[in-house]
Amino acid sequence: MNYVEQINAAPTIDALERLRVEALGKKSAVSEGFAALKNAAPEEKAKIAAELNRQKEELTAAIGARRAVLESAEFEAKAAKEAVDITMLDFSDRGGSLHPINRAMEEIVEYFLGMNFELKNGPLVEDEFHNFEALNLPKHHPAREMQDTFYMSDGMVLRTHTSNVQIHTMLAQKPPIRMIAPGAVFRRDYDLTHTPMFHQVEGLAVDEKGAISFANLKHILEDFLNSFFGDFPVRFRPSFFPFTEPSAEVDVGCVFCGSKGCRMCKNTGWLEVLGCGMVDPNVFKAVGYENVSGYAFGMGVERLATLKYRVGDLRSLFESDLDLLEQFR
Ligand code: DAH
Repeated sequence: MNYVEQINAAPTIDALERLRVEALGKKSAVSEGFAALKNAAPEEKAKIAAELNRQKEELTAAIGARRAVLESAEFEAKAAKEAVDITMLDFSDRGGSLHPINRAMEEIVEYFLGMNFELKNGPLVEDEFHNFEALNLPKHHPAREMQDTFYMSDGMVLRTHTSNVQIHTMLAQKPPIRMIAPGAVFRRDYDLTHTPMFHQVEGLAVDEKGAISFANLKHILEDFLNSFFGDFPVRFRPSFFPFTEPSAEVDVGCVFCGSKGCRMCKNTGWLEVLGCGMVDPNVFKAVGYENVSGYAFGMGVERLATLKYRVGDLRSLFESDLDLLEQFR
């Protein structure tokens, strides 16, 4: 094949470039022909030069034409590969979303972080000291039966509440303390409103004696509940927890019926949402704190989520029911 034929058959731009160097570069027959002109006989020079120029032009034209063909083929291939089918269905709005439990938990945590509470964590497998004894729940105390416990073989328990984080935190640092602890807890329970694993958010504030009162507790919980549920009435009811004295349970006006009375609020117009109180002196004694006062509270995340999102059966939150979950996108 002569050069023109080879050029016309060049498969790629790189191959064409190699041919150009070979046919027209410094070491090509054409270039050497021009270099040798000075040694040619004077009467031959014009004729040889004309022939060399003809060859050079012919090769240059062939290369240019072939390059145009190859470049357009390359463009077509790239365009075909990068083509966008504008008729294709758009799935970009079908992303995942936070599970309603995580969403409620994040919202609760957000609120308290905004109020200068610090985030804490504690173990799920716990010893009886942190889960019970230090919280004023001695062995054989009937109050332990308020919480049906999963006992492990080595004397450990699955924590029945996030209150264990109060003890870890107070043993690890000095007051003042303002902490919240979200996380999973475990109880032997299963019905419409109970699952063996659920989530709580614990809160604890401790400062020097007299610096923290029940009024502070009442204010922050009312403000939190109004920010979480919207404008519903809130009431504090005297109650009992071993780790607080005095203790209270907190209700919000029924979000389902607007306090008129319905199946969800058992016709009382109120829904119980959390427990709280002033930290019991025995708890401070257990962690070696003196001359302090403080408040604590604990809330069930599933409980708050089902009320906020109006989910009738708590268990449906754990069934990966896409029809339910899709409503939270
Ligand atoms: N630990 C309690 C429970 O699991 C909730 C609770 C009540 C936490 C009162 C507290 C509190 O910190 O002060 O039912």
